[in-house]
Amino acid sequence: MIVRDLKRLALVVGPLVVLLLLSISLWHSHTDYVRSRVGALLGNDANAPPSTDSHRKPKLTANETHYEIYSASSADGRFFDIQFGRNVFNPNIIPHQKINNTWIVVGQLWTDPNSNKPGNEVYEVGCVAQFINGVLMCIDYVHPLPYEPSPGGKCEGEISFYNLNVGPHDARVFFGPQNPLTIYGSNGGHTCFGQFIRDFRKMVDWEYELMTNTDFEKGIEIVRPPPFAVLEKNYFVFWDKDNEMHVHYDSYPERGYAKLERDGSTGPELATKTAEHDGKCLQRYLPKLPPKDESIHQATNSLKITLCNRADKTCEPHDGNTYILTIIQHKTYYEYHSEYDPYVVLFQQRAPYELYGISKKPLWISGRKHHKGRRTDMMYVTSANWKDRGVNYHGYLDDVVFLGFGFEDRNSAGIDVRAGDLLVGLGLCEEP
Ligand SMILES: *[C@@H]1O[C@H](CO)[C@@H](O)[C@H](O)[C@H]1NC(C)=O
Ligand SMILES: *[C@@H]1O[C@H](CO)[C@@H](O)[C@H](O)[C@H]1NC(C)=O
Repeated sequence: MIVRDLKRLALVVGPLVVLLLLSISLWHSHTDYVRSRVGALLGNDANAPPSTDSHRKPKLTANETHYEIYSASSADGRFFDIQFGRNVFNPNIIPHQKINNTWIVVGQLWTDPNSNKPGNEVYEVGCVAQFINGVLMCIDYVHPLPYEPSPGGKCEGEISFYNLNVGPHDARVFFGPQNPLTIYGSNGGHTCFGQFIRDFRKMVDWEYELMTNTDFEKGIEIVRPPPFAVLEKNYFVFWDKDNEMHVHYDSYPERGYAKLERDGSTGPELATKTAEHDGKCLQRYLPKLPPKDESIHQATNSLKITLCNRADKTCEPHDGNTYILTIIQHKTYYEYHSEYDPYVVLFQQRAPYELYGISKKPLWISGRKHHKGRRTDMMYVTSANWKDRGVNYHGYLDDVVFLGFGFEDRNSAGIDVRAGDLLVGLGLCEEP
């Protein structure tokens, strides 16, 4: 439906544009929103992302605690807002199947936590979006995605009211080697909240290609090797060099991952083989945590990256230069405010999938502000996808990655960064 609406939109001319804008303005009270859209539709080509030749390299922040990373396209290097026309957070951005410079964005509809009673319905919503005056904006209706509720009934004791939860939460949307998928939290059949996976093409109007795979046509719970946590969160999947799919359910203080089967079941825990090596590397590069108020956990999906440039004709992927990339976050909670510092992690694409490197210092997304006292903007990175259509899972240093992040648990923003820049200050596990 998204595609059809978009095509129709593209054909609309003259008075119809005005009518359309009037009807949209009924939905969006911000006049800026409408005005900028007028500019875009009247053809001053605001859809093409602004480009600059000078590439801003990442650099250490003034107090040398972080590496600041910059947008590959915006004039000032700062992150951009994502506007759904309402409060939506924890965004995911994937390229549109058919149209250049167009993306599908998906996030969780914000509901007032003060009215957050048990049994509240949670919605993941999405739209087709383009850049308009430097903002990634929905250009069709924002609509709930058809995630199916799961029965659950496994929440016991103090948290039994979670059984009343309806709807998916914290969805991730990402590309695999062939097609997009989604992982989301919902009432579990094995624990209170489980993690489910589904073919994302089933959720939007995505034209199937012939000979395509048909895994996960229905939402299916991922059954990790035990023990389960009561609330399972933040799983990601990765594909190894043979395109075998694995699920990675923990990163810290120990990793946890296993082969994922088509029915949601998993093979044996594989991380025990690498635990000693990986433990040393995690201890070496990540901050030491105090007993409370801080934690480190998985945040995004995974990408495959070859550490040379696509533009370089001699660049050939092999085990010695190709890794799985993901982002984990160091969470702190002080003065009633959560903050997150992202670290990039690379691990091997072949068994036993041990760690290869971790950012020595966390990344500072350009535009994140300091406030009074120790407080800074809360930016929770949820997704990392290749910006361009057709790259799917496997990219190179000179490809651009779209990071999506929630802002203060209420709004959405993103930044497009050269993949090579994400690897700034990478500490290798083998480094002496
Ligand atoms: C350095 O910046 C970080 C990030 O904002 C902040 O938490 C820390 O307090 C700063 N340190 C100093 C010495 O200013
Ligand atoms: C879309 O982008 C690709 C890669 O940059 C380009 O080859 C192609 O011509 C573009 N298609 C259109 C319709 O602009």
